[in-house]
Amino acid sequence: MTNSATLSLNGEEYTLDVITGTENEQCIDIQQLRNQTGCITMDPGFGNTGSCYSSITYVDGKNGVLRYRGYPIEELAENASFVEVAYLILYGELPNQKQLCIFSRSLEEHAPIHTNLEHHFSGFPKSAPPMAILSAMLNLVACFHPEVLDVTSEGPEFDRTAALLLSKVRTISAFAYRSATGKPFNQPNPFLSYCNNFLHLMFSDPYREYVPSKTIEKALNLFLVLHADHEQNCSTSTVRVVGSSRANLFSSVAAGVCALWGPLHGGANAAVIAMLEDIKASGKPLKHYLDMAKDKDNPYRLMGFGHRVYKNFDPRSRILKRHVDEVLKELNTSDPLLEIALELEQETLKDDYFISRNLYPNVDFYSGILLRAIGIPLNMYTVMFAIGRMPGWIANWKELLEHNQRISRPRQIYTGHSIRSFVPIEKR
Ligand code: SDX
Repeated sequence: MTNSATLSLNGEEYTLDVITGTENEQCIDIQQLRNQTGCITMDPGFGNTGSCYSSITYVDGKNGVLRYRGYPIEELAENASFVEVAYLILYGELPNQKQLCIFSRSLEEHAPIHTNLEHHFSGFPKSAPPMAILSAMLNLVACFHPEVLDVTSEGPEFDRTAALLLSKVRTISAFAYRSATGKPFNQPNPFLSYCNNFLHLMFSDPYREYVPSKTIEKALNLFLVLHADHEQNCSTSTVRVVGSSRANLFSSVAAGVCALWGPLHGGANAAVIAMLEDIKASGKPLKHYLDMAKDKDNPYRLMGFGHRVYKNFDPRSRILKRHVDEVLKELNTSDPLLEIALELEQETLKDDYFISRNLYPNVDFYSGILLRAIGIPLNMYTVMFAIGRMPGWIANWKELLEHNQRISRPRQIYTGHSIRSFVPIEKR
């Protein structure tokens, strides 16, 4: 549905189409703006700029709404497995029994990695960041499966490549952990669920099969479901920019891993735990940290707070907060960091600095505590985010090709020197 906007510029009037989406969000279509007016728009960080039309995920930041293909995150978190959600995000519908069985079997069939690939792990130093290993190994997997380099967005080749990637990201991540800790690799067990197979790959030992409790499996499933997609966030936008050059799916998601790594994005879940550990160890009052976060001259920020889109609450944070408590109780354990997190959240709810800037806990604020309860090591937290976000990255890459979207190539406003002549070195 379209109506129009009028732009008055340099004495001329221009009519621009206004497009309305499913949920009545509106955009001004400026695809012809430069041709019509000679002007471009400027929006560093793209806070006010739409990059695509998408039917995968809908976020309403004002009302704390998140839906995958129309299904509310609260219902998916309570009822769906990560494999069902991955299928939904990839193909647009929840799978029926037969579709789920075929998809699950394909995931488990692709779980093993080529033995020559395994040797590459020994080339990394023990201190190598797992996100660096993950990004490198995702590109490397494509070397052992050259057929995926030419895959487009549909048909059995896409289905196989998507399953291969969703499955191998789990194996590669677990191998990165095992290699860094000097432990032998476990081989995938096709009779385990997606989550339990990952936990087996991570924590089994040659003489002791790791068998997670239902609580742990459920907690990991919840974590992955909540991270599966989130519109055009930094890493998904990166996957789209790289994919827009028609780069293959593996190199596109490898770039997404690098974008996710940043502490302002996916790296925040580990940064939250580091912040809570620091607060606990210092014994200083929370006010000390709140004051630092509010001090314009101090780069310190409360990790896990704030969001580009959510200006009320992040529904994922509410779901996680509820489940973290349940998981700790079911595991008959407690986490002193949870107490600090709850107190910190309470303090910000009373503080005008945070209230006036709509700074509430985001998905990363409680997810680290859930990962601790599951037993995931701190340096693997952002890797877990990447495993969860893989369906969203693949679906956005697929949608980009289905829409035959042009290569991404933003413009700029030049603010450097105007023309000047070369100066020989003896005269500089
Ligand atoms: C994720 O985009 C997504 O969907 C991401 C994600 C997904 O699922 O993909 O939801 C996952 O990345 C969640 C965000 C995780 N990052 C963090 O928790 C890091 C801490 N948060 C911030 O760095 C920040 O809030 C961002 C990066 C999340 C959002 O940055 P914006 O939108 O650019 O906001 P901003 O920096 O312009 O801040 C607006 C104001 C500023 O103050 P003023 O200049 O107006 O005085 O709020 C302040 C900021 O200084 N502010 C904070 C703050 N976050 C913003 N002050 C203290 N602590 C913070 N955490």
